[in-house]
Amino acid sequence: MALSMGSNNRPVRVLQFTDTHFFRDESGKLLGVDTASSFKEVYKLAREQFGTPDLYLFTGDISQDETEESYRRMVNAVSDAGAPCYFLPGNHDRRHEMRRGLLGDGSPFKTDRQIIVGKWQIILLDSLIEGAVGGRLESGELEFLQKCLKERPEFYSMVCLHHHPVEMGARWLDQIGVENGSEFLNVLDNASNLRALLWGHVHQQFDQRRGAYKMMATPSTCIQFKKKTDDFGIDPLPPGYRWIELGADGTVVSEVMRTDKVARGLELSSAGY
Ligand SMILES: [Fe+2]
Ligand SMILES: [Fe+2]
Repeated sequence: MALSMGSNNRPVRVLQFTDTHFFRDESGKLLGVDTASSFKEVYKLAREQFGTPDLYLFTGDISQDETEESYRRMVNAVSDAGAPCYFLPGNHDRRHEMRRGLLGDGSPFKTDRQIIVGKWQIILLDSLIEGAVGGRLESGELEFLQKCLKERPEFYSMVCLHHHPVEMGARWLDQIGVENGSEFLNVLDNASNLRALLWGHVHQQFDQRRGAYKMMATPSTCIQFKKKTDDFGIDPLPPGYRWIELGADGTVVSEVMRTDKVARGLELSSAGY
């Protein structure tokens, strides 16, 4: 548990960056895109548009090559963050290398998975199955979620993970979401104060309400996937990020913002990534 603010009524301000896909080498590219440069543009835009948030969320696929050095490059890229950065793993991450690379003296990255801030708790879940593309919430994760929800009923909750727990309407993507998504949603649907559910992985914007909570997915800071297609495809949309304001009365206001150009070098005809 971490970060606590006074009992004032201002919203908790969050910036989410997802699927940054960093490499160890400066020449590393994903489908023609220099992922670190693309992230830097998105990060700069976010700081210009939104200022310094109360906290940052990195919702997985921070690395593409699973190296400790790729994570250190991320630490360098956000050295002026000015607020704590929280993270969870995606299918392209490796837990051990991620922790070793992101954490340490002078790094803004923190390990907390239950963040208490203002009138809110933000719960970070690990849906990674190492070696697999799809994800799963193991029983330990579901127990952790239930424990957080139960012990802090007076706080509104936002739950974050990498993989999508609901169908996105794209055949190839829907095979690589959370494999026990319905079990997970059953826990969430029974939570009294859940107001937001946030993920990455799908490299596209998604905003939909489900009962009392808002479900949100966010574009990657590098390449975007075509929506609602049977097979993998690249969408020529610019990279982006999401800002979220978590109100003291439980309201959630959020918007996806994008740069004005498609990531430089993008290869549109790729058959996979
Ligand atoms: Fe990704
Ligand atoms: Fe992913």
